[in-house]
Amino acid sequence: QAWVELAKHWQGKRLLVSAGPTQEAMDPVRFLGNRSSGKMGFAIAETARKLGAVVTLVAGPVALSAHPEIRRVDVVSAQEMLAAVTEQVKQQDVFISAAAVADFRPETAHDRKLKKQAGQDDMTLRLVKNPDIVATVAQQYPDVFVVGFAAETDDVLAHAREKRARKGLDMICANRVGDGLGFETDDNQLTLMTEAQERALTPSSKSQQAFELLAFIAETSF
Ligand code: CTP
Ligand code: CA
Repeated sequence: QAWVELAKHWQGKRLLVSAGPTQEAMDPVRFLGNRSSGKMGFAIAETARKLGAVVTLVAGPVALSAHPEIRRVDVVSAQEMLAAVTEQVKQQDVFISAAAVADFRPETAHDRKLKKQAGQDDMTLRLVKNPDIVATVAQQYPDVFVVGFAAETDDVLAHAREKRARKGLDMICANRVGDGLGFETDDNQLTLMTEAQERALTPSSKSQQAFELLAFIAETSF
């Protein structure tokens, strides 16, 4: 019943979702990355598809498959993710940035495998900042409803509130990580926040959280 109601709102809406980690190359065999499985982003994409939305998924390296009706663009690095998102975001109604984008990348991605030198006991890797994808979209596409995530271990709500405002997002999903919640797990507990409203969801499966997130977006934006 709730599904039928919500599907009336999402039918034909265009949704872009980013999901998974990014990998930042050091050389052809090594990268910097993070512990994102992509499950939350894929659950959002799949739930929106079931609700009748036209879904595009920009995915970092993950071991997940998407329904054939979801248009999927695979990327590796944050810079590739920005390019893919920028290309896909035009004419979208909503962008949900669920990807765990690496904040920094090695300054140089070497063409050849780095070798240890004889007697070398340490090494220094210089990193440079990656572009902020969700903030870029929020700034350049004011007509798109932009939703970010904030995975935090402490002061979850305060950090998330500050992030939403600083990045100019319409909504942020505060996500407590650690204690068996969040990364690499099936359960999650999101608090959904707009400028005007905050709603703490009961902990549940990522698909259930996705459903409630999509319901909240429909209530607030269309
Ligand atoms: N994000 C992004 N591009 C980046 C970094 C983050 O689009 N280079 C997006 C994420 O997809 C998420 C939101 O920004 O929707 C918040 O990510 P988070 O890592 O929590 O925020 P940061 O601004 O990177 O702050 P920090 O990691 O220092 O807490
Ligand atoms: Ca970050």
